[in-house]
Order: sequence, then structure tokens, then C-alpha cells
Amino acid sequence: MTAMVKAEGVHKSFGPAHILKGIDLEVAPREVFCLIGPSGSGKSTFLRCINHLEKINAGRLSVDGELVGYRQKGNKLYELKDSEVALKRRDIGMVFQRFNLFPHMTALENVMEAPVQVKGETRAVARARAGRLLDRVGLADKAANYPSQLSGGQQQRVAIARALAMEPKLMLFDEPTSALDPELVGDVLDVMRGLAEDGMTMIVVTHEMGFAREVGDALVFMDDGVVVETGHPRDVLTNPQHDRTKAFLSKVL
Ligand SMILES: Nc1ncnc2c1ncn2[C@@H]1O[C@H](COP(=O)(O)OP(=O)(O)OP(=O)(O)O)[C@@H](O)[C@H]1O
Ligand SMILES: [Mg+2]
Repeated sequence: MTAMVKAEGVHKSFGPAHILKGIDLEVAPREVFCLIGPSGSGKSTFLRCINHLEKINAGRLSVDGELVGYRQKGNKLYELKDSEVALKRRDIGMVFQRFNLFPHMTALENVMEAPVQVKGETRAVARARAGRLLDRVGLADKAANYPSQLSGGQQQRVAIARALAMEPKLMLFDEPTSALDPELVGDVLDVMRGLAEDGMTMIVVTHEMGFAREVGDALVFMDDGVVVETGHPRDVLTNPQHDRTKAFLSKVL
């Protein structure tokens, strides 16, 4: 089976700052892959590399069997044009800590926007799907609300629906609940749990260890640009093998 994401010796620097120092990991289709680690360890940078927002400096990174940013012909690599990169990026949904909804559009319009603008879908088709997606994230009754008329948790669920509207094969979540008031976190995690049950492949950077333990299929602990430890979430959380993992978990659990 082709891995949904495969990283082999991935390095990334910003100028002299060496951030990712040889990341190796593999995410299987339908897997919920959780990523934890201290601030600055490179978690967001790694997600941005997967999503073609950053170019890696060394190693190989592929999504669904295709190299990120390159086309392979025989044993030669050709860099993709911006338009080709944009096409690839459509297949990957990304949800950030800050939801970045369009403030002048309703929830429904936010979810409709990309399929209409990027894929040239008719408004009727996009509207029907957006309605279904808002229903799926529990916001059918908020379709006509503007972001300013929604709670943070509701805005984040609209952001998830908006990412799903492009029918991605992979969803990247970068601390989707860490900007939320505690009482709003549960609804967002429930939506993510539902997505996982439906078989979506997900990489989730999170501080929600409960979510990782219950929903995650794999858990990676990253520190200082390397994968320190990887395993089943239950094992890593209850029986960490490395001192750095133990030290981190003792602070967050
Ligand atoms: N565009 C950039 N230019 C220069 N340095 C960057 C850039 N993006 C990230 N960095 C640096 O890379 C390092 C890793 O950042 P990254 O955001 O990936 O960490 P993180 O693990 O997501 O941390 P956090 O838990 O705080 O979100 C940091 O030291 C950061 O300052
Ligand atoms: Mg980050």
C-alpha cells in the first residue's frame, strides 16, 4: 500500500537556522497521525513542507506516492511550476490554530468559496455541498452567520468544513484547538473524531493528549527537528522510552 505521506531524511533550514534535521516517518492511508513536541521543534514547519508551503533542502518527501514539489521522469527530477504546485495543494486540507475565515462572507459562503473560485464549480453545486458540510460539523443552523457572529469553536468548525469542501485526501491540523476557550474544544475534537471514523487521513499537531490517546493511530514526539520517539499513542504516552519524551510528557500530562 502506498503511504499517504512518506518522509525520508527531510531537512529544512531557514538561512543558517537548521530546523528539520532528518525527519523519517510514514503515514498510512486512513491513519490519524498525531505529532507532539516542544515549541520550536519544527512541527508547523514540517506540516508546511507537506503542503508545499516550504521547500525542503534535502531528503525525500512524498504525498500519496508523488514527490512534493517535483515530478520524476526516469531518474531525473523536475521542479513543479507554481500552477502545478497549486493543483497539488488542492488535495491537502489545512486547518490552523487561527481560523482565518473571510470576515465579509457568511459561514456558507466561506465553505463555498474555494470550490467555486479554484475549481470553477457552479454555485448551486458548491452551495449544496457547503450545506451538507456545515451540517456535518454541527452548524446547519449557522449557515447565514458571519464569522463575527460565531464563537471561536464554531469558526474553527467552519474552517474544517471549508477545508473539506475541496474534498482533500489528507487533512493537516496545526493545533486546531489551542486558541479556543476550554469549553469550546470538545465540539471541535468531536468533529475531528467523526472525520477519523469516516476514514480521513489526518496529521494532527496537538496538545490534546486525550484526543491522541483515544483517536490517534500513531504518535510522534519531535524535539529539535528530529523524531525522537514514535509508536502507538497509548504506548508512547504511558510508557515513553526516551528521556526527552519523558521530560516533555511530565510537563504536559
Ligand atoms: N519562515 C521562517 N523563517 C525563519 N525561521 C523560521 C520560519 N518559520 C519557522 N522558523 C523557525 O523554525 C523553528 C521551528 O518553528 P515551528 O513553527 O515549525 O515550530 P513548532 O514546533 O510548530 O512550534 P510551536 O509549538 O510553538 O508551534 C522556530 O525556531 C522558528 O523560529
Ligand atoms: Mg507550530
